[in-house]
Amino acid sequence: MYGCFIRRTYDGDRVKVDVLVVGAGAAGLMCAITAGQRGRRVLVLDHANKPGKKILMSGGGRCNFTNLGVTPAQYLSANPHFAKSALARYTPTDFIALVEKHRIAYHEKELGQLFCDESSKLIVRMLLDECAAANVLIETSCAVAKVRKTDEGFSVLTAKGEVHAQSLVIASGGLSIPSMGATGFGYELARQFDHNVLATRAGLVPLTLSGKHQEHYQDLAGMALPIAEARVGKRSFRAGLLFTHRGISGPSILQISSYWQPGDELRMDLSPEQDIGDWLVAQRAARPAAELRNVLGDLLPKRLAQRLCELWLGSKPMRQYRDAELQDMGARLHDWPIVASGTEGYRTAEVTLGGVDTDGLSSSTMQSKLIPGLYFIGEVVDVTGWLGGYNFQWAWASGRAAGEAV
Ligand code: FDA
Repeated sequence: MYGCFIRRTYDGDRVKVDVLVVGAGAAGLMCAITAGQRGRRVLVLDHANKPGKKILMSGGGRCNFTNLGVTPAQYLSANPHFAKSALARYTPTDFIALVEKHRIAYHEKELGQLFCDESSKLIVRMLLDECAAANVLIETSCAVAKVRKTDEGFSVLTAKGEVHAQSLVIASGGLSIPSMGATGFGYELARQFDHNVLATRAGLVPLTLSGKHQEHYQDLAGMALPIAEARVGKRSFRAGLLFTHRGISGPSILQISSYWQPGDELRMDLSPEQDIGDWLVAQRAARPAAELRNVLGDLLPKRLAQRLCELWLGSKPMRQYRDAELQDMGARLHDWPIVASGTEGYRTAEVTLGGVDTDGLSSSTMQSKLIPGLYFIGEVVDVTGWLGGYNFQWAWASGRAAGEAV
């Protein structure tokens, strides 16, 4: 049902549509469905060979398609108010109703995160079925070469011919995972039409360590703590921590990575749900002859406890520590300074922070304030959600907002 519309139908002639959407990802497909349902003639173009590739790989293949606890507070943007209108008008409940209409089984994993029971393929199938029902045409393997503003709208030169559209919606995503088709197209197009583009950087991404910091911990790769708290300034996230060959990852690190910049101080609470000082004092009474490193190995993964004792805390039999020393040690383990040198970058990042400045867009329609008929939606816009289904909810909500307006 998708793939060769322009050539087959028009054989080199000019194609005229009401709405041209560039990018058949989450935001672009939702926008196309909404506009198609309103009777608009919609064409979606994507340079990748199939639509929804990121949806397919999301949530470990099960697509964490929304979050029950979505509020604007879980989004980063230079304008924290921008996302409010779209998020309020298309909510997680609305998307869940669509998922239920298509009889897709889902479950809440934790913290309001909703995943498919089976496969993210079902979400792509659902979106494509909705597109078909709304007479939306989708052209894949079709790159855009040039975009020009005309009196009637836009002329878009593609690898398969020229398309004319009254409205042009840019839903080309961010820079994360270039191997999946990510490009800077949306940012370049925004600049072409004099939109400001805020500096981009990788978000929801593992952090790297370097030099002696990496040497100290690299052999712990694969070791995980089920709960740790990562802190940068006043922002903190409590979730899993994972040591990797090049640094640290896990949900607590992915979340904090969106708030961390090179040079920022990162601190970890290695046991946020237990007062470590009090626990050590109790352990001293119970096991006075035991060495600290062995005692700590009951609280933290054993090899991490050993390493922290070797590098930082020292280790003696418990009876040799005074209360104040154990409390001080507890305080240090609740506030472990770990020096990150950078991030793994766009190669592994789930999202791109920054992007098309929301100052130039209407928050209710996503339309450009500079060029009537031009819209930006989804990840290309400077709105980035936390880990946990928030980014898809922004894609659905911003896609819906534009789809109602185009
Ligand atoms: P998206 O990237 O989905 O789509 C953009 C489309 O534009 C692509 O199809 C691309 O090929 C196309 N395109 C780009 N340049 C083009 C050009 N020049 N010409 C034509 N087409 C072009 N979020 C979440 O909420 N829950 C989750 O479970 C996950 N999981 C996840 C896992 C992984 C590994 C990644 C990388 C990301 C996630 N995310 C996520 C984030 C989520 O995938 C992301 O926020 C949305 O896909 C953004 O939707 P968009 O439609 O804006 O871009």
